[in-house]
Amino acid sequence: MPRELIAVLDFGGQYSHLITRRIRECEVYSELLPYTISPDELLKLNAKGIVLSGGPASVYDEHAPKCDPKILQLGVPVLGICYGLQLMVEMLGGKVKATKRHEYGKTPLEIKDHSDLFKEIGNKIVSWMSHGDFAETLPQSFETIASSENCATAAIRDASRHLYGVQFHPEVAHTQNGIQIIRNFVTRISGCSPAWNPQSIIETAVQQIRSEVGEGRVLSAVSGGVDSTTTAVLVQKAVGQRLQCIFVNHGLLRKHEAETVLKALKDDLRLNLHYVDASKRFLERLKGVIDPEEKRRIIGEEFIRVFDEESKKLGTFRWLAQGTLYPDVIESAGTGSPASRIKTHHNVGGIPAWSEFKIIEPLKFLYKDEVRRIAKELGLPESIVGTHPFPGPGLGVRIIGEVTDGKLRICREASAIVEDVMERRGLYDEMWQTFAIVGDDMAVGVVGDQRELGHIVTVRLVKSLDGMTADWARVTEDVLEEISNRITGEVEGVTWVSYAVTSKPPSTIEPC
Ligand code: XMP
Repeated sequence: MPRELIAVLDFGGQYSHLITRRIRECEVYSELLPYTISPDELLKLNAKGIVLSGGPASVYDEHAPKCDPKILQLGVPVLGICYGLQLMVEMLGGKVKATKRHEYGKTPLEIKDHSDLFKEIGNKIVSWMSHGDFAETLPQSFETIASSENCATAAIRDASRHLYGVQFHPEVAHTQNGIQIIRNFVTRISGCSPAWNPQSIIETAVQQIRSEVGEGRVLSAVSGGVDSTTTAVLVQKAVGQRLQCIFVNHGLLRKHEAETVLKALKDDLRLNLHYVDASKRFLERLKGVIDPEEKRRIIGEEFIRVFDEESKKLGTFRWLAQGTLYPDVIESAGTGSPASRIKTHHNVGGIPAWSEFKIIEPLKFLYKDEVRRIAKELGLPESIVGTHPFPGPGLGVRIIGEVTDGKLRICREASAIVEDVMERRGLYDEMWQTFAIVGDDMAVGVVGDQRELGHIVTVRLVKSLDGMTADWARVTEDVLEEISNRITGEVEGVTWVSYAVTSKPPSTIEPC
């Protein structure tokens, strides 16, 4: 029997992933699934509870997304959140109407019943609302269990059919005790036991790899990042020395990165590691290339070539382990919702069609923060566990225009300064990524007594949960001042420093 699952059906809400993550915080496994999933499939997946997510549509829109109404008759508990509540009401014969006043933001809520969904929750809490429609008439046998000033039906239920709905968003941190509401649904109402934790995830992954791989040999590209290293350590736990890792230095690594990574992988983690310094051939192929997509393509293609050549020297391998994460899988496959298609991803499907490898992806159901927890549990050094994500094409996506030796030096040195300042000030861990960008724009500066034309370096400090959306960090002026002074003072050829103040969207995190 597959593990107990709380299925989150994605109706395109901006918080759909967040619901899944919150459920997992309750140590119960959850997946984000397309709203078109059939009732049978849900049962096959061992769904013990179903959440209907929020979404931008109105249930009366012509093309409003709707799930199969039989899902509400499975006897499996259902929690509708915002649009999910309205959909449930509409499908069961109630009435949804546009509110006279949209409710948006923090909204006081009065709880009327504490017996199940609101167990251990106070009588009055602050909730996070974001809706234009509400349930005006409830379906038969439903009752109201919480209200707000403008929404009498802020939480509803039909306990006999195990159907629940909340108009507010318990998954958003602004809802007081929201996690307890989710826990009540997941453990009390759906009866799941908390068993999704780092130890059990590791045990299951190791067993699964062992049974899949059998006596075969596994190849893995490692970069020293938390995803590829955790993948390698899991596979090593399962198959020992039959795992062969390859670390390719493409010449676009950060300052001292190759040495630090080699030490961690070889000396600390004792991985069976083959190191290749292929910097020259990558940088040679990148000469004269300006187009960002072309640069990415070349780096990707050259990586595969090097990897292929080197692996052939090391014997025959049937299996390839990759550190693909859950958001990558969702983004590539899509759950059918617009929110799941913000960007096309880079790691999934990176292996060319001619490859005959069978793929193992032990992290493909995990979010980044879960990978970090597992990495910690596996004893990976803090320098790997806490390190910011670093893209496969490395500094190549942080150098706008051609990758020249001069710009590479500036980008590398300036990024090292940015990271150093953030670490020394204790701000590094609060950030998703912190780096410097350089392009071809030049500006006049005064060096000594001379006017001199130098590069403009742009500093990018972003906060994010999973890289799918991001916000620029509101750091204080003195942090920016220190970064700016150090970059212009220590990195030759830089005369100006700017700070990127766009979020994602509309920008992306990396400039190219
Ligand atoms: P963007 O720039 O698309 O980045 O907002 C989102 C997250 O993905 C990382 N990123 C990449 N990772 N190969 C990777 O392995 C790539 O080509 C790539 N491009 C972006 C980026 O660092 C951020 O965390």
